[in-house]
Amino acid sequence: MTDQIRVDSLSKTYVLHTQGGIEIPVFADAALSVASGECVTLHGPSGAGKSTLLRCLYGNCKPDSGAIHVSHGEGTVDIASAPPRVVMEVRRRTLGYVSQFLRAIPRVPALDVVAEPLRALGVPVETAQARAGELLARLRIPERLWSLAPATFSGGEQQRVNIARGFAARHPILLLDEPTASLDARNRAVVIELIAEAKAAGTALVGVFHDDEVREAVSTRVHTMQG
Ligand SMILES: Nc1ncnc2c1ncn2[C@@H]1O[C@H](COP(=O)(O)OP(=O)(O)O)[C@@H](O)[C@H]1O
Ligand SMILES: [Mg+2]
Repeated sequence: MTDQIRVDSLSKTYVLHTQGGIEIPVFADAALSVASGECVTLHGPSGAGKSTLLRCLYGNCKPDSGAIHVSHGEGTVDIASAPPRVVMEVRRRTLGYVSQFLRAIPRVPALDVVAEPLRALGVPVETAQARAGELLARLRIPERLWSLAPATFSGGEQQRVNIARGFAARHPILLLDEPTASLDARNRAVVIELIAEAKAAGTALVGVFHDDEVREAVSTRVHTMQG
């Protein structure tokens, strides 16, 4: 097993500049390694910094110190210090992310929202849309919705589009922030299956799951955060 992610002494404190510079320490000296085929779950109370850590791993949140080594192609990139252009390239080829909420792009049909990460890798449109359709069908998004923009979808439907998009390109690393929070039991079971398949294919996953059943089903290891 080789580490796909290695976090070294990562620290993050938010500073509220609009509120007199109040400081909110989130984590200090955090360490975490995730190997190919593992699903490490971040567990801890609300406010413990789970989403902040995932955002740092994705390059959406700048840590104050420490490093986030990510296996990328033949080499390694430190997401904490890489320039935006490199972070974008790591996201395209290596790093997938299912955020808590879908940021729907106006007028883009659900099928294309899901196919887009594959199109960005140069996959032909028919192949990309076929994979997108397969995922949308598994996640029970009715076919009549595939040509519509997700902006008007229900919360649960948007979240399923978001999940389909995250799994579409089979990135070597996948970050999941409470992907099952607004799903019913049947759709939760599909997400558990998708995660199992990704692990079997060698994906390294880091996830936050609010429900114990999902966490127990998918975790190879639990990383506790106290806040
Ligand atoms: N953008 C932000 N600016 C300031 N404080 C934030 C920001 N995002 C999160 N926080 C604070 O950081 C702490 C950790 O938040 P978060 O990472 O969302 O925790 P979790 O996902 O474990 O619930 C919380 O106290 C939260 O209020
Ligand atoms: Mg969170």
